[in-house]
Amino acid sequence: RKSKAGEAAQAKQKQLETFSQAGENLLTTNQGVVIADNHNSLRAGARGPTLLEDFILREKITHFDHERIPERVVHARGAGAHGFFELTKSLVEYTRADFLQEVGLKTPVFARFSTVAGSRGSADTVRDARGFAVKFYTREGNYDLVGNNIPVFFVQDAMKFPDLIHAVKPEPHHEMPQAASAHDTFWDFVSLMPETTHMLMWVMSDRAIPRSYRMMEGFGVHTFRMINARGVSHFVKFHWKPKLGKHALVWDEAQKVAGKDADFHRRDLHEAIANGDFPEWELGLQLIPEAKAESLGFDLLDPTKLIPEEMVPVQIVGRLVLNRNPENFFAETEQVAFHPGHVVPGIDFSNDPLLQGRLFSYTDTQLSRLGGPNFHEIPINRGVCPFHNFQRDGMHRMLVAKGQVAYEPNTLASGAEFRVDGGEQGFRSYPQEMESPKVRLRSATFDDHFSQASFFWNSQSPSEKEHIIAAFQFELSKLDSVAIRQRMVDNLAHVDSKLARKVADGIGIAAPDAKAAAGRAGFRNVRNKLPIESSAA
Ligand code: HEM
Repeated sequence: RKSKAGEAAQAKQKQLETFSQAGENLLTTNQGVVIADNHNSLRAGARGPTLLEDFILREKITHFDHERIPERVVHARGAGAHGFFELTKSLVEYTRADFLQEVGLKTPVFARFSTVAGSRGSADTVRDARGFAVKFYTREGNYDLVGNNIPVFFVQDAMKFPDLIHAVKPEPHHEMPQAASAHDTFWDFVSLMPETTHMLMWVMSDRAIPRSYRMMEGFGVHTFRMINARGVSHFVKFHWKPKLGKHALVWDEAQKVAGKDADFHRRDLHEAIANGDFPEWELGLQLIPEAKAESLGFDLLDPTKLIPEEMVPVQIVGRLVLNRNPENFFAETEQVAFHPGHVVPGIDFSNDPLLQGRLFSYTDTQLSRLGGPNFHEIPINRGVCPFHNFQRDGMHRMLVAKGQVAYEPNTLASGAEFRVDGGEQGFRSYPQEMESPKVRLRSATFDDHFSQASFFWNSQSPSEKEHIIAAFQFELSKLDSVAIRQRMVDNLAHVDSKLARKVADGIGIAAPDAKAAAGRAGFRNVRNKLPIESSAA
C-alpha cells in the first residue's frame, strides 16, 4: 500500500491517463466502426427523407440528447483543478491519518471552488458564500475536506438546510431573481431565523465578493476530531490561508464584471495555472483538547460559531498547490463527488447537528446526479489505493468483479481474499460515550446568536463597515415587503445599534427596535450579553 512520497503525488495523474481517449484521428462510432462521412445523413435519394437505418446519425443524436446531467442542487457553478498537498508539520501527536504523518509527503488532490446559490450558468462575481472543496487521494482512501470561504454557517441544524436553500434560490413561481440574496424570500427567512445573523454579517461583507478563488480563505466550518494511534481525540477546525492574501472586489466592480465576463473567477483560476502561476494555500489547524472544549464560552458543536484565533492559534501544518488544469470540465469538475463523510482512519466527526445531516445528504444527492450507486468508479472519484468489497452490479458498473462469491462469510472463495478485520489499518469510529434520551431539542448552549456577529462587526475597519452598511441597504432596498425590511433592521440592532440605525436611515425604515425583535419567535432565550440599545437610544 505504501509508496514513496514523490510517487504518491503522481499517482492520480497516472491513473487518470489510463482512462483518457487514445489519440487516434479517425472518427468512429461508439462501437469503433470508422465513419466515412460526418456531414450527410443517409437518405432515400439526394432530396429524399432520412432513413431509420442510419445508425451513425441515430447514435450521434441519441448521445447528444442525453448529454446533460442534473446540476448540483447547491454549488452548481464552479471551477476545479488538480494539485498536491504537502505536509510541513507532522501531526503524529494528534492523528494516525497516514497522509498527515511524514513531513514532505505529497498527496494528490482535486479542488473545486463554487458559488452556492446560482445555477451552472450563473455569473462568478455575485454576492454569495463560496465553496472550497478538496479531495485528498490518500494511500488509505479518499479524504474530502468540503468547506466554504466563510467560517460559520447560516443554520445550526440540518433540518433547516432545505428551507434556507429554498429561500435563497430563485422564487418558485417565476424562477427569479438569479442573484443569491436580493429578494424577499431570502430576507423573509433570515429575518425570522436569528441564528443566521453571524453568517449574514460575513455575507454582507467583502468576503462574499472575492477578487479571485486564489485570494480567498477556506474553512471546514464544523468541528471535527483527530484521533491519534493511542486513541486520544482532539477537536479540530480546518483553515486554508491563501498565499496571495485575502482580496475582494468592491460591489460596483463585482456587478460590472458579472455583466462583462460571467466566467471571471473560472478564467482567473484556469489562466493562472496555465501560466505556471500556481495558486497556493497553507493548511492551518486549531486543535483543542477535549477537556478544554467546555471552557471556550460557546458550544463547539454550533456551526454558527468560530473559535477566535486569539483564543486558539492556528498552526500551519501543510500547503496546497494547484498546478494542473482539468483536461475535461465535465469528466472531472462536473463529475467529482465530494462528501464530508469521506474520512480516513484518524479523522472523525463531531456531533454538530448540521454536519450530521450533511453526512446523509451528499451520497444521496449524488445517487441521482451521477446516475446510480457506482459513481465511485468514475475516474475522478477513484481512490489511488484499491477498493475491495462485495457490493455488486447497479447502473453504470465498470468493475469486472471476479469469482463466484459476493458475500461474506464464505467458504467458497479461493483463499482469504479479503480480510474482514482491518486491524490497525481499519477505520474505527471514535467510541464517544453516549447515554441520553432521544429528543428533538436544540441545546441551550446554541442560544446566543449575536455575540459573534457583533465580534465580527467590531473587527472590521471603517471602510469595511461602510461596505457592510451599503450591502444591507442595497439588498434590503430591493424588497417589496416593508415588514421584512423592518424586521431585519430590528434584528441588526442586536448586533450593533449604529449599524442598524444607519441601514434603516438609508432605506427609509422606521428606527430599529431591538425590543420588538427580541419578542419574536426564534429569539427564545437569547442571551443579551451585549448592551442592547432600543431605537430611542
Ligand atoms: C455541495 C448539501 C451544508 C459545502 C452540496 C450538495 C448538497 C449539499 C446536496 C451537492 C453535492 C453534489 O451534488 O455533489 C448540504 C447540506 C448541508 C450543507 C444538507 C447542511 C445540512 C454545507 C456546509 C458547507 C457546505 C456547512 C461548508 C462547510 C459544500 C460544498 C459543496 C456542497 C463546498 C460543493 C462541492 C463541490 O464542489 O462539488 N451540499 N450542504 N455545505 N456543499 Fe453542502
